[in-house]
Amino acid sequence: MGVSGGIAAYKAALLVRELMRRGHEVRVVMTEAATRFVGPITFTGLTGAPPVVDLWDARYAGEVHVELAEWADAMVVAPATAHTMARAAGGIANDALTATLLCFDGPVVFAPAMHTRMWKHPATARNVAQLRADGAAFVGPTEGPLASGDVGLGRMAEPDVIAAAVEASVRSDLAGFTVLVSAGGTHEDLDPVRFLGNRSTGKMGYALAERAAARGAHAVLVSGPTSLATPSGVERIDVRSALEMEAAILERRGSVDAIVMAAAVADYRPAELATDKLKKTDGPRSLELVRNPDILAGLGAWREGSHPVLVGFALETQDVVPNARAKLARKRVDLVVANHATDAFGKSTNRVTLVAADSETALPELDKRDVADAILDWVRARLPAS
Ligand code: CTP
Repeated sequence: MGVSGGIAAYKAALLVRELMRRGHEVRVVMTEAATRFVGPITFTGLTGAPPVVDLWDARYAGEVHVELAEWADAMVVAPATAHTMARAAGGIANDALTATLLCFDGPVVFAPAMHTRMWKHPATARNVAQLRADGAAFVGPTEGPLASGDVGLGRMAEPDVIAAAVEASVRSDLAGFTVLVSAGGTHEDLDPVRFLGNRSTGKMGYALAERAAARGAHAVLVSGPTSLATPSGVERIDVRSALEMEAAILERRGSVDAIVMAAAVADYRPAELATDKLKKTDGPRSLELVRNPDILAGLGAWREGSHPVLVGFALETQDVVPNARAKLARKRVDLVVANHATDAFGKSTNRVTLVAADSETALPELDKRDVADAILDWVRARLPAS
C-alpha cells in the first residue's frame, strides 16, 4: 500500500486495518510528504513492519522497492495525490513509492484525494487517463466536504470501498474458463486498396478481453483491424473480414466456455473482389453487395443447451431495448448488451442495458472496463462453480 501526502492519509491507517481484517498481509510505502500527515510508527504498529519511506536508508539490504514489488499481489495508492499520480503516469521513480510502482507488474488501484479543482484540472485528467490506459483501476474520489472547507468531488473513497476494489483487482473467478471475445469492425475489401468498414474502434471488446484475462480466464480475442495494443495475458487472433472472423470463431467454438460478440461485423460484403485497383469511369457507379453470415445467429443455432454462454451486442439508434430483446430471441443468445450508437463509438465510457430473457439491467455511464466487468459477472453466474 502506497500512502502519499494528503490530509486523507490519516484514513490510510483505517484502510490497512480493513485489508488486514479481510485476511490480507499489508506492507506500507510512504512518500516523504505523507509522513507529515501520519506517523510511520502508526503503520509499524498496525502491520508489524516499518513502512518504507527512504530508498537511501542504509537499514535496507539490497533493493527494497524490487523486493516489495515481487512480494505484493496488488498495490493500492491511498490517498493518491495529484503529484504522485503525475509521477506515476510519467514513469518517474524518485522515491520509494513511485520506484515500487514502476517495478510492480500486478494490479494497481489508485484512490485519489485532492481539492476538486486539482482533480478537474486537465493535467490530472490526462494523468488519470494515462494510468488507466496503463491498466490501473480507480476508486473514487467521492463528493463531500473537503479539507479546505469547500464541498465537492475530491474526497478519498471510504476504506471498505477501497478494500473491495483491491480485492476485485486480484480476483480470479474466471480461472479455468476460456472466454472468446470478438472486437472491432470488419473490413470488406473491394479491391487491393479499398474496403467497406465502420467506425468501431474495438475498445469495448478489448476491455472485455483485458478484464477476462485479469480475472483469470484464458481470454481469446478475435480482432478486426484496430490500432489498439493487445492487453496483457490475452491471446489475440487478427482477422480482417467477416468471413475470416467467422472461420476463426468456428475453429474455436467447441473449446470455449463463453463467447462475447462485441465486434461490429459487416452485414454485407462486395459481391466481387477486384484483383486490380478499380479505375474511375464517367458517370455513377453502383456496387453489388452480398450478405455476410450472421456469426452470432450461427452460434445460437449451433449450440445445444446453454454451453457456451453466448453474449451479443446491439448497437441501435432507436428503440434500443425493444430491438435488443428482439435480437435476443432471433439470435438465440443468453444476453444482449444494448447500447445507443452515440453513447458508444470511440469513447472510453459506455452506457448500456443488459437484456436477458428474464431481466433487464440499465447500468449508468461507466468506464468500458467496468462495463466489461458487469458483463463478465453476468457470464460468470451462468458458468459452473469451479
Ligand atoms: N453479428 C454477427 N455477425 C454479423 C452481424 C452481427 O455476429 N454478420 C453480431 C454482432 O457482433 C453483435 C450482434 O450480432 O453481437 C448484433 O449486431 P447488429 O448488427 O446490431 O445486429 P443485426 O442482427 O445485424 O441487426 P440489424 O442490422 O437489424 O440492426
